[in-house]
Amino acid sequence: MKKIASFAFILFIQCCVCPFILKSQDIQRINLIPQPQLVIENKGSFLWTGKTPVYADPVFQKVAQLFTEQAALSAPRPASSNMNTGIPAIVFRKQKFPDTASAESYKITIKQKQVDILAATELGALRAMFTILQLRLLQTEQSLIPCGEITDAPRFTYRGLHLDVSRNFFPIPFLEKLLDMMALYKLNTFHWHLTDGPGWRLEIKKYPQLTKKAAWRTHNSWKEWWNNGRLYSAEGAPDAYGGYYTQQQAKALVSYAARRGITIIPEIEMPGHAEEVLAVLPGLACSGKPYTQGEFCIGNDSTFVFMEDVLNEVMQVFPSSYIHIGGDEVDKKAWKECPKCQSRITMEHLKDEHELQSYAIHRMDTFLTAHGRKLLGWDEILEGGLTPGATVMSWRGEAGGIAAAKMGQDVIMTPGAYCYFDAYQANPASQPEAIGGFLPVAKVYGYDPVPNSLTSTEASHIKGVQANVWTEYIPTAEHLEYMIFPRMLALSEVSWTSLQQKDWNNFQGRLQHHYLLMQRRFINYYRPMPVLDISSVSDTIGKISRVTISSEQFKPEIHFTTNGSDPVKGSPIYMAPIEVKGIATIKAAILNPVTGKMGPVSARQTAYHKAVGASVKYNLPFSNSYVALREYTLVNGQTGSFTYGDGQWQGFEGNDMDITIELQQLSDVNKIAVNFMQITGPGVYMPAYVEYSWSKDGKNFSSPVRIANIVPETESKLVIKPFEVMVNDKVKFIRIKAPNDKHAFLFADEVLVN
Ligand code: ACM
Repeated sequence: MKKIASFAFILFIQCCVCPFILKSQDIQRINLIPQPQLVIENKGSFLWTGKTPVYADPVFQKVAQLFTEQAALSAPRPASSNMNTGIPAIVFRKQKFPDTASAESYKITIKQKQVDILAATELGALRAMFTILQLRLLQTEQSLIPCGEITDAPRFTYRGLHLDVSRNFFPIPFLEKLLDMMALYKLNTFHWHLTDGPGWRLEIKKYPQLTKKAAWRTHNSWKEWWNNGRLYSAEGAPDAYGGYYTQQQAKALVSYAARRGITIIPEIEMPGHAEEVLAVLPGLACSGKPYTQGEFCIGNDSTFVFMEDVLNEVMQVFPSSYIHIGGDEVDKKAWKECPKCQSRITMEHLKDEHELQSYAIHRMDTFLTAHGRKLLGWDEILEGGLTPGATVMSWRGEAGGIAAAKMGQDVIMTPGAYCYFDAYQANPASQPEAIGGFLPVAKVYGYDPVPNSLTSTEASHIKGVQANVWTEYIPTAEHLEYMIFPRMLALSEVSWTSLQQKDWNNFQGRLQHHYLLMQRRFINYYRPMPVLDISSVSDTIGKISRVTISSEQFKPEIHFTTNGSDPVKGSPIYMAPIEVKGIATIKAAILNPVTGKMGPVSARQTAYHKAVGASVKYNLPFSNSYVALREYTLVNGQTGSFTYGDGQWQGFEGNDMDITIELQQLSDVNKIAVNFMQITGPGVYMPAYVEYSWSKDGKNFSSPVRIANIVPETESKLVIKPFEVMVNDKVKFIRIKAPNDKHAFLFADEVLVN
């Protein structure tokens, strides 16, 4: 936070006279999110009452009108009218900014007698307007706004939030509330995921069956529907769950958003994720039958007639320059066996089904371009050749975005690890069921959408960043708010604030004030949990584990132990990473400064056991997507946490786990244990059993001992379970087999040998 020199000087003088004045005045009073380019705090406050007059230059009348509505003030008066009433006023003025300035630039000066909002464009005035509204909502005493100057402009032009309304339907008043919050935090794009297997959500006049039937399913709960035949119902049927937006409602929402400087981009999924369409228009499936596949038949011209009909109506509702056509997760199996698709491949001289997908995307792109629109799609649209002019939404990591940027095509970064707000934000034991993953607010905050590997020209194609909210496990608006807030505030700063201005500690301090704002807006936000995150890395040279303890609480006093006992007030205070030898259980808790009691205890085992540093031979490979620390993972002395994405859990995808470990020397071994994880949402299951055998020479192995799995496959919530075998033998080699009978994912973190 920059402060002007003279202010600092004044403080210095006061400090000499009375240090308490410095202390109270030195508290940061302007706590905006996203952090503006430059903030200067001054003494004094502007008195804002219900009678505060608002004046505006003619070009900013509309913005000022919205402002007075939002702030419950009288309608704005022209700035040319007599402003010398003596009552402190808020004034919107047009000012020329340098030609190089972003259209969203603005400057605000808050003095005791007047607030001046200066911008060159209506968009700039809008962003400023939401800054001043936010600043008011942050004050405990809303009538006093701290004096100062704010100069601001965004880092990225695209700052998005996506919402899946197919898995669960969310009503218009809630979407309006969400748009209001987005505007307050300067997000400017709402990506409306309107169609997908679990339900079609937009009225299409030419195809009424889409909303009469395909918008309704047989179970409220997505999970129950998914596990019970995935059938569609009909509007008005007693079992029907679903809903849709009429074109009139969607148009009204587009205007509502536009007034707040937000563009709504509709997504109409093709060629995959279309089960609901094929249920009512089975002629567009390769089989010609409903409930057989999720992909449109690309050999069938009727597919393109349908898509163009739909997009013609969509374009009448949505004026956005981008139209999102999906393109993700297409299972091309049906195309391989479809004579029409194969004939299309031949006629169009395509190489394979990947190029067939690319052909479909090309056709949609040509159509959209002819109508003056631009195609946006998930990163699979790169497969089989990217359509020139298409913009890529990079969700399977950043690789797709990097490839597109290197080709000179525009990119929106939405990598799953940083931008998927359907992931857990804390230990699943304390959270409502989510799809999996782990994305705490600090991790969102730490994301930089511009990869280091890009040149500055390539980086200029990264237009921005977006968070995606898939709603399989999010049935209500309250739950949705819980998943979005406060992570959206971190995204806001990632998307708006320059890299140099970003600072997690400062953000966390400002965030404390925004909990008040979210309460004022009746947002059901996630509260920081008192549980601690304990992580460790092995130092193989010093043969120690280096343990880090972190917390989402603001400046907590953390006490810890390394001997397995629960921490008490007298236990050491955590200040910096601690070094631990051998096998140890680290326990930590936060001291509640009010009650003097310790909060919930978090624990983590670190272990320099007999297999640390051993060599591991993979008789069957680990998953390329979840390599963790490769050959080092299972013998690095670190167990995993509650998320398979923490770099300690190694995945086995499709095939069994089958490894042979060679210890550094022949050792007395009492027992061996391996932890496995189950969380069925993302397809992570326990093995059928774990089979151990051991040997002194690597040739003659003991007869195998099987430890059976006892966790039922219907247990969808997170379970971590050790499979332990007693050995009591001299051992150098250990063979471990764990059948992946679900052909999904196995995850193991460590082979503990004692
Ligand atoms: C996606 O998450 N399937 C884009």
